[in-house]
Amino acid sequence: MNVAVVDEGRTRELRRAVLRPNLAPDAPLPGDELSGGVHLAALDDNDTVVGTCFVYPDPCPWQPERDGAWHLRQMATADGLRGRGIGGAVAEAAIEYVTAQGAQLLWCNAREPAVPFYRRHGFVPHGAVHIDHEVAHQHMWRELSA
Ligand SMILES: CC(C)(COP(=O)(O)OP(=O)(O)OC[C@H]1O[C@@H](n2cnc3c(N)ncnc32)[C@H](O)[C@@H]1OP(=O)(O)O)[C@@H](O)C(=O)NCCC(=O)NCCS
Repeated sequence: MNVAVVDEGRTRELRRAVLRPNLAPDAPLPGDELSGGVHLAALDDNDTVVGTCFVYPDPCPWQPERDGAWHLRQMATADGLRGRGIGGAVAEAAIEYVTAQGAQLLWCNAREPAVPFYRRHGFVPHGAVHIDHEVAHQHMWRELSA
C-alpha cells in the first residue's frame, strides 16, 4: 500500500460510498466546488483506492488571523479494511504534504466517532461537539512544524 496525490475523480466513489451513501454515484459531493483541493489516495497492490482524504488552504474558523491554515476533509477508508492503519497512513501523508507546502496548522471538523483517530495523529479538539448535517462533529486541529 502506498499513498499518492491523485485526481479527485479517482477517490470520488469511495468518498461517496463511505461519507454520503445516500447520494447517487453521479451526484455532486461537498467539496466539488473547490478548485484548490489536493486529493490523497491509499492505493493497494492492484492500484485500487482503499483510503482517501483531501486538503486545501482554508482559514481556520477559530484562528482566522493565522497564516498557513489548511483544511482536512473527507477522510475515508473502505468498509471492511478499517483498523489496519490505512487511514493513519493517509492522515500522516496529508500532514507531510501540507507541511511541505508551508502549512502551519491543519484543521478539520471530525465526525465524533473519529475523534480518537485524529487525536492519535496529533489533533486536539476545539470547542464543543456540535451537530452538522444531523451528525455529531468536533472541530479539531494541530500545529505543524517544518
Ligand atoms: C476514520 C477512518 C478514516 C479511519 O480509517 P482507518 O483505516 O480505520 O484508520 P486506522 O486503521 O489507521 O486507525 C483506526 C484504528 O485502527 C487501529 N489500528 C491502526 N493500525 C492498526 C493495525 N496495523 N492493526 C490493528 N489495528 C490498527 C487503531 O487502534 C486505530 O484506532 P483509533 O481510531 O483510536 O485511532 C475510518 O474509520 C472511516 O472511514 N470511518 C468512516 C468515515 C468517517 O467517519 N470519516 C471521518 C470523517 S471526519
